[in-house]
Amino acid sequence: MQKLAIQGGIPLRGEVRISGAKNAALPIMCASLLTSDVLRLTNLPDLHDVGTMHKLLQQMGVAAESATGEIAFRGDKVDHWEAPYDLVKTMRAAILVLGPLVARFGDAKVSLPGGCAIGSRPVDLHIKGLQAMGAEIAIEHGYIHAKAKRLKGARIFFDIVSVTGTENLMMAAALADGVTVLENAAREPEVVDLANCLRAMGARIAGDGTDTITIAGVEKLHGATHRIMPDRIESGTFLVAAAATGGSITLRETRADILETVLEKLAEAGAQIKVTGDAIRLEMSGRPKAVNVRTAPHPAFPTDMQAQFMALNCIADGSAMVVETIFENRFMHVQELRRLGAQIDVEGNTAVVRGMSHLDGATVMATDLRASACLVIAGLVAQGETVIDRIYHLDRGYEHIESKLSQLGANIRRLK
Ligand code: EPZ
Repeated sequence: MQKLAIQGGIPLRGEVRISGAKNAALPIMCASLLTSDVLRLTNLPDLHDVGTMHKLLQQMGVAAESATGEIAFRGDKVDHWEAPYDLVKTMRAAILVLGPLVARFGDAKVSLPGGCAIGSRPVDLHIKGLQAMGAEIAIEHGYIHAKAKRLKGARIFFDIVSVTGTENLMMAAALADGVTVLENAAREPEVVDLANCLRAMGARIAGDGTDTITIAGVEKLHGATHRIMPDRIESGTFLVAAAATGGSITLRETRADILETVLEKLAEAGAQIKVTGDAIRLEMSGRPKAVNVRTAPHPAFPTDMQAQFMALNCIADGSAMVVETIFENRFMHVQELRRLGAQIDVEGNTAVVRGMSHLDGATVMATDLRASACLVIAGLVAQGETVIDRIYHLDRGYEHIESKLSQLGANIRRLK
């Protein structure tokens, strides 16, 4: 089990390049199942989850030629329409092969993802949407079996906003017979990036980025080349780390328009922020002010940034409320932050954080991807050494995080 050792107390300074977005790359890789032509993806991040998805697609028969940060997929010989449990249990996003498989081949056998640390994570909305489009679905022995001669366009209302639910059904609808309207759809930028890629492949999609997406199905989709958008959560994570350590950093190859609520919260905490093209500069002098956050679907404050802001609030001036409205168990980092001396009270989905003048290094354990990012930030500000265990969670969603942080002056090393 690999660990990270961090000597805290060093303000981050310098600049770092932001990688392609994990949560755009994963659905877009699945779009390769929708065509027999070549889908070339660039700016792919070097992440464990991208590797896992690559392996799953190859198991299905998708050919792939990879170079650094780039993979050319070709779905002309896909003959195995199954996503097995032993793979899906390690990466829930594998559910995103379901819509494309049913749409192109009329047949899919995908393991139910099961829960994860942050919640039960059901996929009932994915299934309900495909049924509305005419798929016959049976759930047996932990697998979703879906069959359809040809999916038909339908009007589908999401009673809960679901990012991958929206993405799965948008991909399914792209090849369906007729028009599909997704209502109460997710508005996340990664949904828009997927829609841009599908349009480049010949799909007819409008309304992505709003809560109503209309897809007019076509007979076939052709190949395309698509550059994955920058990772807004990696961007936000580095900005919060710089603010928490009282540093000043510049992010390159990112976008500010997909991070508005995060940038607003950082300014509220006292950071000076300057956006120039694809660069964001943050300067923080002194201690941040405590900021309240409440997570909700985009364009509101992202749940994937909740843990990072909790770390900032642990050492901020004042007290703050952190309210998590998306997942039922996304406070796993609280116990670990308390080991570093944080003062946090939790009541249901609300945490009240009282800012301390400092935290003290300790050994802590990562429980999920964003909780581990929170502990890295806490370790960067804590006095003395912090050792974070189970950092495989971190490697799922942050590309070469210790080398990027070392570039910014952090004293951080990976312990084998
Ligand atoms: C996506 O997960 C992201 N993952 C998550 O990022 C992110 O936290 C989440 O969206 C919310 O923004 C990817 O894009 C690969 P949801 P997803 O479906 O799609 C409930 C990270 O750290 N729900 O939007 O699985 C669900 O339980 C990860 O990068 C149903 O009830 O999330 C949750 O309470 C973590 N039934 C809420 O909706 C369904 O069929 C939102 O979930 C689907 C979802």
